[in-house]
Formats: sequence, C-alpha cells, structure tokens
Amino acid sequence: MEQRLRKAIDVIKGVKIPDLPKEIMELDMELACKFPNNQKVADIIESNTKLSGEVLRLVNSPVMKLKSPVTSIREAVDRLGYDNLKNLVIAAAIKNMFDKPQVQEIVEHSTDTAFCCAELSEHIADVSRDEAYLLGLFHNGGCLMLATKDPENYLKIFSHMNTHPVSGVHKEFELYDTYHMDVGLLLGQKWKLPIDMLNVILNHHDDAEHSNDKLRAMTSMIKVANIIVNEVSYGSYMTEEAYSYLDRACGDLMIDKDSVNAVRRALVAFA
Ligand SMILES: [Fe+2]
Repeated sequence: MEQRLRKAIDVIKGVKIPDLPKEIMELDMELACKFPNNQKVADIIESNTKLSGEVLRLVNSPVMKLKSPVTSIREAVDRLGYDNLKNLVIAAAIKNMFDKPQVQEIVEHSTDTAFCCAELSEHIADVSRDEAYLLGLFHNGGCLMLATKDPENYLKIFSHMNTHPVSGVHKEFELYDTYHMDVGLLLGQKWKLPIDMLNVILNHHDDAEHSNDKLRAMTSMIKVANIIVNEVSYGSYMTEEAYSYLDRACGDLMIDKDSVNAVRRALVAFA
C-alpha cells in the first residue's frame, strides 16, 4: 500500500494537495476541549464568510431535511451538534476549494452523488445524513486532483469509469499509473477524515467483502449513488457492468427497486 501511495504522490506531482483550511483546524482545537464553547465554534465558522454561507445553505438544503430552517450559524451549532456540523463545514470547505471551471463536471457529479448518499443513509444504521453527504462529496476527490493535473484528458476517463465502474478503473490505471482512490486517500488523509471514510475512499470500486458492516454499507451506498447519478443526471446508458454493480450493492444494503426509485425521484427534485 505504501508503494501505491508513493506512486500516487509521484503522479500528481505539480498539483498541490489542498491544505486543511485554518477554520477547520481551529474548529478541531475548540472541539477537542472538554467543554467546547458554542459561541466560539460559531465565531470560528463565521470568520470565513464564504464558508459560513455555504454551511448555512447546506444546513437548510434537502441534504439535511430539517423540519424548520436554521437562521444563523450559532443556531446550527446548537441544533445540529458538533460532529454533524463539522461534517457539513468540511463539505462546504472542500466544495469551495475545488471551485474551478476545469473540474466543475466532477464537482457536480460528486454533489449529486453526495445527495443520493444522504438519501440512502436512511437505510443504514449508524450513518447520518451529513456523514453520508461528506463521504459522497469526497469519495472521488482523487478525480478532482487528477483532472486538475490533466484537465484535457481526465474527463474522458472519468466519464468512462462512470459507465464502466469496474473495468474503467483498470483503464484509468493503464493511463495514469495510479488509481483515483489512491490519490483520494492522500487528500482524505490530509483533511483528517475519519478512518472509516478513508477506507471507503480507498475501496469504493472494489468487490472485496468488508468484514465491518458499516464499511460494507457505506461502500455499497457510494456504488448505488454513483449509478443513480449517472443514469438520472447524465443520462448515461446502463452497461451490463453497471447493472450487476448496482444489483450487488443493493443486495448488500438490502434495499429494493422501490427504494432506489425513491432516491432517483429525490435526485430529480434536488438537481
Ligand atoms: Fe470512484
């Protein structure tokens, strides 16, 4: 694995892995206190206007499905709790970080996938909507890095991987000598994502069985969400490969066609 990661670092040479924003580091420090101060937490988020605007937008969006709107960051801290809010702050920050035209298609794909993950999380024990959303947004972070490095060609392989979720990643390896999952792991590590999320980022195209139920469910959630987005948002044709990928992942999540259709409809309303 170490060798694979060294290779990934080599391949993206010249593209800086974005640093964790200072607001998130400050947030981590405050949340590490025995008794974090809610006003201080709110002040840290509000010190970056763009970030706090995106956090509020996310909190009040269908991603979180709150019964009544939140009107301030302080209210978001009080109502959501630290862990949930932090997931949304990281999600807002990564979105701001990759706000560049050459990777817009991948950002939009990840945003739709993240929304589908939030919807699918309702079927998974111990996975919150914000956690699912953050993972959906980050899972293809390696694609964002590779597309930043090679915007002219990477989008072609990205779209091929969407319709060919298994053979497509082998093609990616042939062309780039690395996998986006490995590059994504580097980004996730730098952003101090929880170990569960790092594991899913690394294995989200694999067929290997996870012994851990939560990991298996989160990996299958990413797979189902991806196929729904390809179909609904991009009108991609469903290859045999994509069909069997979807079937296996749905079996793992123990969800039926009606549940998948409900996520499809929610995405149409969201997009
Ligand atoms: Fe992927």
